[in-house]
Formats: sequence, C-alpha cells, structure tokens
Amino acid sequence: MNSKIPIESQLPIYTAAPAVESAIQLHASRRVYIETYGCQMNVSDSELLAGILVQNGYETADGLEDADVVLLNTCAIRENAETKVLNRLKQLNHRKRLQPNLILGVCGCMAQHTRSKMLDAAPYLDLVLGPDAYRSLPAALRSVAAGDAFVNLKLDQDEDYADIAPIRKDGIRAWLTVQRGCDKMCTFCIVPFVRGRERSVPAKLLVSEVKRLVNEGFKEVVLLGQTVNSYHDGAHDFGDLLFAINDIEGIERIRFTSPHPSDATDGMIEAIAGGDKVCKQIHLPLQSGSTKTLKAMRRTYTAETYRELVANMRRRIPNLAISTDIIVGFCGETEDDFMETYHLMDEIRFDSAFMFKYSPREGTLAYKSLNDDVTSTEKGRRLREIISLQEKISLEINQELVGCNTNVLVEGQSRRNADEYHGRTNSFKTIVFPKENSKIGDVVQVNINSATAHTLRGEIVA
Ligand code: SAH
Ligand code: F3S
Repeated sequence: MNSKIPIESQLPIYTAAPAVESAIQLHASRRVYIETYGCQMNVSDSELLAGILVQNGYETADGLEDADVVLLNTCAIRENAETKVLNRLKQLNHRKRLQPNLILGVCGCMAQHTRSKMLDAAPYLDLVLGPDAYRSLPAALRSVAAGDAFVNLKLDQDEDYADIAPIRKDGIRAWLTVQRGCDKMCTFCIVPFVRGRERSVPAKLLVSEVKRLVNEGFKEVVLLGQTVNSYHDGAHDFGDLLFAINDIEGIERIRFTSPHPSDATDGMIEAIAGGDKVCKQIHLPLQSGSTKTLKAMRRTYTAETYRELVANMRRRIPNLAISTDIIVGFCGETEDDFMETYHLMDEIRFDSAFMFKYSPREGTLAYKSLNDDVTSTEKGRRLREIISLQEKISLEINQELVGCNTNVLVEGQSRRNADEYHGRTNSFKTIVFPKENSKIGDVVQVNINSATAHTLRGEIVA
C-alpha cells in the first residue's frame, strides 16, 4: 500500500468510518452473501442489511461461491420456516469445514425467537442479530474477525433505519418498509415478540425515498408494515401517506401489505378508490370465519364486521381484487367453526388466499394458555378442503377475465419461453404474453385469452 495516499482515498467510495488501517483491509476483503427467508418485510430488511454493509465498505456477493460471509435472514412465523433454516445451517457448516474462514451468521426473526437455543443447535454460528440490531453488523463482523462470536438481540422501539439507503436488486418493484413491529398481539403470532413495538417512518422521508426510487427507474412501490394501515407518524395516517405518494410524478403503481381489517379507515378506502396509481387490490388477512375462533385469536373483529368491510370496499372500489390469509386448526376450532371459515370463503370469493395449518409458537399467548387440540391429520384435511375450494374460486374468477383487456407492468422474461414476458395486472395477477415490441418496465395493454387458477395468458393489444 502506498503510505503517501491518504487512507480515505484508498477506500471503496461508500466507506464511512474506520480509521484503523488493518480494519480497512479486512473490510475490503469481505464479500457478504445474504440468503432471505420469509415475507417481503425480510426481503426489504435484507436490502437494508446490504445498505449497511456497503456503507461500511463491504461488498455484497451474488452467490455462495464468491462469499466469505454468509448471512441467513430468517423467519419464525411457523415451525417449518425455522426447520428449513436449521437444515440450511447444517449444510453451510459442511461448507465452513472446507472453507474455515467462512463467517456464518443468522439475522432476523428466528434469531430473536430462538435466542440461545439457536447457538445450542448451531454452535458453529459466528453471529446472531435480531431485527433491531442490524446496525451492529459491521461491529459484529469485526468482532468475529478478531475471534469473538457476536450476539445482539436488543429490541429498540426507536429503530426505524430511516437514514439507511437500502440496496435493491429488482429494478421494477421496490419494497418500502413504512412501519416496523406490531402492537396487535394476536394470540397465535410470534411477530410482536420478535419485531417489537410498532413504529412508523415519517411520511416526509418516505415521500423523498419514493422520489429517489422514481429517479432510479422503479415503476412500482409496495409499502410494507405488519399492520401497514395502522401507520401513523404523529401527523399523517395511512390514507394521507397513500395520497402523498400518489401525488409523486413518475410512480406508476402503489401497493401495500398487509393491512389489518380493524384499521381499515375511510381514508385508506378513499385512497384506494380515488388514488389513480393506488392498485385496486388488497390483501386483507381474515384468519378464520368463526367469530368464536377470531376471539380466541384476539383478532379484534368478527366474521360479521369483516363481511361488512368487504361489502363496503367492494361498493366503493369497483373490481377490487381481494386476497387473504387463513389459519386452520387453531386451538379449540371445531368442525362447525371450520365450516364457518369454509362458508365465508365461499361467500366472499377471494381472488387468492395463503392458507396455513396452525403452528404453535413458543412464547405466544396461545402457546402458553390454549390447547393445540386439533390433530395434525385433521389440520391437514381442513387445509386440503379450503385449498381445493379456493383453487376452484380463483379459476372461476380468472376465467371470467378472458376476453378483457388489462394494463400490465412488464416485469421480466418468462422462465419457460424466451419470446415471452411476464408481468402483473393492476390486481396483482401474473400474466404471460409474447414480447412483441415491449420492454421491461413498460405498461402495456394486454388482451387476456386464457386463465388458470394462478396465471393469465394474453397478447399485447396493438
Ligand atoms: N400482520 C402480518 C402477519 C404476518 S404473518 C401481515 O399480514 O403482514 C402472515 C400470516 O401467517 C398471518 O396472516 C397468518 O395467517 C399466518 N400465521 C401467523 N402465525 C401463524 C401460526 N402460528 N401458525 C400458522 N399460521 C400463522
Ligand atoms: Fe401477527 Fe396479528 Fe400483528 S398476525 S403481525 S400479531 S396483526
């Protein structure tokens, strides 16, 4: 190294702090690969982690092969999400034997949930960081390089990472976390325990972030929060935020996930109905069609109020597409309770649904005080029944669209055919069509000519 050159000018351009030369050399040699599990919030958190790394002079790697740090950004929502990560860690430990300097870390919800148990199960882990501890990642990597494992699971109600510039991969759709944590305490859910209390990023910062996204070429923004519509920054609520983003020139589409039925304000409904860029689509988790079960889940609404909310939204927003989440086999769910869910799904006719068997999570209220009394076989049967109902409904709804024209945001090349693109309709349905003269990022008119329960096909209208 030429000692006459000031240290700063030898650094990668984003490098911020460390004044110690050996630390700088260490940083420059570290390439970090982040593997993401779970929901969009985790995808967005991985982009934050990448932002923190790059700001501190690290590089991100596209694959395991050229990485010397591997971070798993994890999910704790159901048991199988955690099992998947434990299996992956075992595989990575083999790799660590072949590549002894490989640093292996676990970040996010599972780190927070399993705490010391994670280190018992995987003692070879070098670092463990909870969702509010990402800023300590550079310190963690320095500590590990110096030979000390690093654990930070502190939850911090003030942490919103608002000053960190995430590094996003996809050039069309940007995930934007507007709120972190959750205050709802549904009895089945681990999220409030692993992500802490609810907090919102100031609307002013979000508006400038969306302007920046537009300048970077993004066409669609998806606002993220655990109960995104309870967003409040002290001066603006969620409806205000949607309208403010709708006013930004150059953004084509605005979506958000997931709202809570109890926080569906008039302002939010007005913004979906009236905001020309706000997609006419909502993911509105129902969980159960039985008011008794909803009460045991502490969902704070009844089957009846959910039904009324959907009717009200459909009245005010023509052609609104609605998707949902359902849990079967929650504690105390009888056959009659389950049939109430089945009938409500049949009545509402969701466009699509994510459906799950109840999975008890240690630390939750249900785990502590309710009996997981529906057998696994019975949960499986109930799940199959609603999946087959939903498949039939999704197919029928999609087939009714055949012959219609729809606006499509072109997202990428179809995996099956290099002459075709895939994109999404305003209602978030996947559609595949011949490329013709379109390009990724365009919004094109497509005539729908066939449909399955999950995908539409069509042709660009000249
Ligand atoms: N409010 C968040 C919920 C995140 S969890 C959001 O909608 O973004 C996503 C879904 O996982 C929940 O809506 C619920 O249907 C399901 N889920 C959560 N905890 C679960 C558990 N213990 N067992 C089974 N499914 C669960
Ligand atoms: Fe979980 Fe209920 Fe919050 S599902 S994320 S506790 S709204």
